[in-house]
Amino acid sequence: MFFLKTVYLIKWSDFLFDVKGKKVLVTGASTGIGACIAELFASYGADVGIHYNKSEKEANDLLQKIKLNGGNAEIIQADLLDSSSYKNIIDSFICTFGGIDVLVNNAGGIYGFKHFIDLDEISWDETFTLNAKAPFFIAKEAFSYMAEHNGGKIINISSVSAKYGGSENSMHYGASKAALDAITNGLARAGVERNILVNSVRAGFVDTLFHKKIGRKNIDERIKMTPLKRAGVPKDIAKMVLFLASEAGDYITGEVFTVAGGD
Ligand SMILES: NC(=O)c1ccc[n+]([C@@H]2O[C@H](COP(=O)([O-])OP(=O)(O)OC[C@H]3O[C@@H](n4cnc5c(N)ncnc54)[C@H](OP(=O)(O)O)[C@@H]3O)[C@@H](O)[C@H]2O)c1
Repeated sequence: MFFLKTVYLIKWSDFLFDVKGKKVLVTGASTGIGACIAELFASYGADVGIHYNKSEKEANDLLQKIKLNGGNAEIIQADLLDSSSYKNIIDSFICTFGGIDVLVNNAGGIYGFKHFIDLDEISWDETFTLNAKAPFFIAKEAFSYMAEHNGGKIINISSVSAKYGGSENSMHYGASKAALDAITNGLARAGVERNILVNSVRAGFVDTLFHKKIGRKNIDERIKMTPLKRAGVPKDIAKMVLFLASEAGDYITGEVFTVAGGD
């Protein structure tokens, strides 16, 4: 009886979050949330593409760590401000791994973290390119492949700033993430006939280099504004992405999930 119960329990836990052998591309996987997603998926047996732009050392360190632990991964470099990279990144991932099952559009950031009255057009354009244009065009390439190969999943990493419109210094970022959520809805509707499931994960305040890069100073105040009174950690977001990518997420599409400590 004890043996049967154990087998029964293992069976359920085994397949619910199973991504073994799935081919998963994570953009912006050199640091922060993306690196954590890549590592978590690799530890669950997925073949992982670690995309990076400038953080070559961090991407290589992650690659070595995954391989040392028996996982399978490769690195792919591309600047997502350069639109010629969008098709290449998917082609190169498919060429390396023989297909693509899951795309996690995670790369993102803010150009020009400054009061909106002083915002320049270049910062607006680059922020939209990184957070909305690039994920759309990369998803479009993945979508075409998935449509011909029994479907797949696309998960876009958005932000609670899409809900609030961002702060006075990040209004353009909030708008770009709102555009990404609209892309999620559009692609999800286009994907239903082709078994392509598309969702957004809206992250709240997560303790990563993101905030250092933009020169944010009010970190303690930002944490106080979070109902759970702590900063998120990358794993908080990665767990939701794993849930959606695994069989647990097989009946979910066109949704926006907020993982933000109650924000
Ligand atoms: N941290 C938060 O509080 C928070 C909250 C809400 C949403 N998010 C979202 O979560 C995602 C991950 O952010 P994070 O906090 O993990 O920040 P992060 O540590 O700064 O990571 C950002 C990643 O995006 C890549 N990236 C940035 N600019 C790029 C470009 N031009 N071309 C290609 N890749 C580029 C970076 O690559 P390189 O370093 O290799 O250049 C890095 O891998 C982003 O979409 C962000 O908007 C974060």
